[in-house]
Amino acid sequence: MADDGKVSLASDGALARLIARQTPGHALEREFYDAPELYPRDMRHFFMRHWLCAGHASRVPTPGDYFLYEPAGESIIVVRGQDGKVRALANVCRHRGSRICREGEGHAKVFICPYHAWAYNLDGTLRAARHMPGDFDGAVHGLKEIALAVVEGLIFVSFAANPLALNEVRRTLAQGYGPHGWADARVAHRARYTIDANWKLAVENYVECYHCAPAHPEYSRLHANEQPRSKLAAMTAEMERRAGALGIAIENHDHWALDAAPGEEAVYCVRYPMYEGKRSGSNDGGPVAPLMGAFKDYDSGSTFIHVGPASFFLAYPDHGVMYLFVPKSLHSCEMEVVWLVRGDAAEGRDYDRERLIWLWDITSAADKRIIEDNQKGVSSMYYEPGPYAPMEINCRRFLAWYLKELAAPPAR
Ligand code: FES
Ligand SMILES: [Fe+2]
Repeated sequence: MADDGKVSLASDGALARLIARQTPGHALEREFYDAPELYPRDMRHFFMRHWLCAGHASRVPTPGDYFLYEPAGESIIVVRGQDGKVRALANVCRHRGSRICREGEGHAKVFICPYHAWAYNLDGTLRAARHMPGDFDGAVHGLKEIALAVVEGLIFVSFAANPLALNEVRRTLAQGYGPHGWADARVAHRARYTIDANWKLAVENYVECYHCAPAHPEYSRLHANEQPRSKLAAMTAEMERRAGALGIAIENHDHWALDAAPGEEAVYCVRYPMYEGKRSGSNDGGPVAPLMGAFKDYDSGSTFIHVGPASFFLAYPDHGVMYLFVPKSLHSCEMEVVWLVRGDAAEGRDYDRERLIWLWDITSAADKRIIEDNQKGVSSMYYEPGPYAPMEINCRRFLAWYLKELAAPPAR
């Protein structure tokens, strides 16, 4: 026990005892959200073991375009090279370690470290190092490269030395978001919501809709996922009939959390119906942008896909929404929300930005509030983990998955 009365988790034994103390089917003990020693362990044992979506490929359309992706104290340059390939390079100079890029996004012909001006090509190779001796080997001083894959226009990176396979992810995204045309989409808007809470509370909140009725009336009057099972099944069948008439068949797929196939990244795809007459995620349920991909009409459906522990996506026939969770510290994370439209859609002519973002901006602002309130209560000495409701089944799965990997050796 530390001086402040909190349990120290510095040793493996203390962590094992804490994991053993967990009541099945209940929220996590306070230390999982509150103990400083746990945060680096969270990152090494769980978060960095998985593939993480850094953004959409339309952010880097031409060689030299780049943006920074910065989870858990790291900084990664995602850049399109002269060869057209997108790479993820550690934003850490190979001389004495300075950050090289400071701007969150931009265009570069070459990356020059601001400290002593070592210069790097877009593929990370060292181009020039001033006044170095003749025996200096520039070939072994390129920027470190991180695993990267572009799937249906989504850029995923993995910090793991041996990244998980993406076969299931590729198959699920192709059949789920191929028809939605995400590979040819473009970013219409991005917003970052800084949340003063542990990243796990933000993810738990995203994966359950028990809170949707009380917290999100705007969402709940469009989306039918809270309806009783039999009614939902009938509405889902009607949605599938309408999609089928458009030549679209998207299968549900559940290899997420504890059910991930061995060696594969976890992935989940589920389609939910919207209420009769609602066609898109907007103020009135009406269209917001040109139809995308193979959708030649609306089917009153929405396609949710989860990849790994921190990347969540939602597709309507006329736009998409990406939810990317980025841990910043024990009690702070960022929720980046990205709105996608058809690649050739022009703001003003084809869509109105305010109308496009209305639903998920108001929903995200509400989520920020409820997640921060959750953290305040969890940090209280009166907090005691309570039981999950059946509608919170994905929280139970997520946390069981997290605890299992936390107890295992780190990924690297
Ligand atoms: S630290 Fe980058 S050039 Fe010296
Ligand atoms: Fe929410």
